[in-house]
Amino acid sequence: MEINDQRGRIFVSPQAYADQEGWHEVAAELRRDDPVLRVEAEGYTPFFALTRHADVFEVSRRSDIFFNTRNAVLGPDANFELIRSMGIDPKTLIHMDGVEHRDHRHVTNDWFKPAAVKRRQEDIEAIADEFADKLVDFGGSCDFAQDIAVPYTLRVIMSIFGVPQADERLMLELTQGIFGAADPEYLGDVGDPLTYLTRTVARFDEYFAALTEDRRAHPTDDLATVIANGQIDGCPMERHAQLWYYIIVATAGHDTTSYALAGGMEALLRQPDQLAALAVDPALATNAAEEMIRWTAPVRAFLRYAQEDTEIAGVPIAAGERVLLSYPSANRDDAVFTDPMRFDITRPDADKLISFGLGVHYCLGSQFARREVRTMLPKLLERVSAIELAGDPQWAEANFVGGVKHLPVTYTLR
Ligand code: HEM
Repeated sequence: MEINDQRGRIFVSPQAYADQEGWHEVAAELRRDDPVLRVEAEGYTPFFALTRHADVFEVSRRSDIFFNTRNAVLGPDANFELIRSMGIDPKTLIHMDGVEHRDHRHVTNDWFKPAAVKRRQEDIEAIADEFADKLVDFGGSCDFAQDIAVPYTLRVIMSIFGVPQADERLMLELTQGIFGAADPEYLGDVGDPLTYLTRTVARFDEYFAALTEDRRAHPTDDLATVIANGQIDGCPMERHAQLWYYIIVATAGHDTTSYALAGGMEALLRQPDQLAALAVDPALATNAAEEMIRWTAPVRAFLRYAQEDTEIAGVPIAAGERVLLSYPSANRDDAVFTDPMRFDITRPDADKLISFGLGVHYCLGSQFARREVRTMLPKLLERVSAIELAGDPQWAEANFVGGVKHLPVTYTLR
């Protein structure tokens, strides 16, 4: 691919993210030398890549100047146009701005508040126990990412959603059809990725239309009921926005969290002293979860579009130009984190992580994600007396949501 500056490849190339060490070396260089890097890559509208914490922070906060618009996820322009030409018009919270965004977010906001999420802790514990018990079934070795992290986080999100266990496989396929679109392993032999995406959206549509009908007729205390009966300005939510509301909640919640858990586990396995400390003192799990989410930053980036002429760190940005917020890079900025390249579950600055973004679009599910990770850690350590890597972890080739997708481990049961 033609590109004006080779360093910009780390944002554009899905493969670049599969080499974490190499990726972070380039990002560190950019933070030092070119924190607002103009990237002109063939097939992509140019963008400025922001790699420093302060700049990612400031742009996220200034939602009056920097809009998400309908195209906040980086991809080739042709894909974007093709998706639209195929009649797919994503309209999630991520794609909205201003009052429209505020009103739609309001529909589920209370449901995701800390006190409301805390009430689900017992359910999360029960699900964590169920999946930690699988270690016993696997008998001493497994792929922690695919065997534990993926199904566990999927089950939690589906249980809060209210989707029955029998439909989880379908939900997983659908999510991978949307988010996995760049990774060859997830695509398998489905053929053309965009055709696959269209089919995926059509299946989601069918599934959620039936769910809406059901929850309107038989409301329960689940999230599907809240979305099905959601109102905007006193009127039922428009069907299209409702479909995409279901899709964002069904998809944003588990790939992200499972990558944080699996990638965090890899970091722990590489530093057995920290694993041992956690086994002795389970109270460390809360900070460990923060550190795992800082370290892994499963959402790689979002874009924002300047609504007026402005500047970032002295670099002029004209109205209409776009900037890329690099969360993994901002999370390793030594202006904010002491010794940022060190994974440390006791670090006092772990809570300065920016993996969940900031401002009006701040991750709706951050409370769930944190609870899921910190609840699982002690459950695992209650069951195993020793656990180690049994081969090289494999990373997803994805430049939107990604992380460790295979984590072979061996362990001794207590
Ligand atoms: C470690 C796990 C997760 C990470 C790293 C993550 C990251 C993010 C990021 C970076 C954003 C955009 C923030 C911004 O633009 O400022 C976001 C938004 C969002 N996330 Fe998460 N997320 C995670 C888990 C979850 C979970 C568990 C759910 C649902 C249960 C969820 C639902 C959402 C939704 C609905 C939005 C859109 C919010 C809006 O635009 O107003 N996420 N997330």
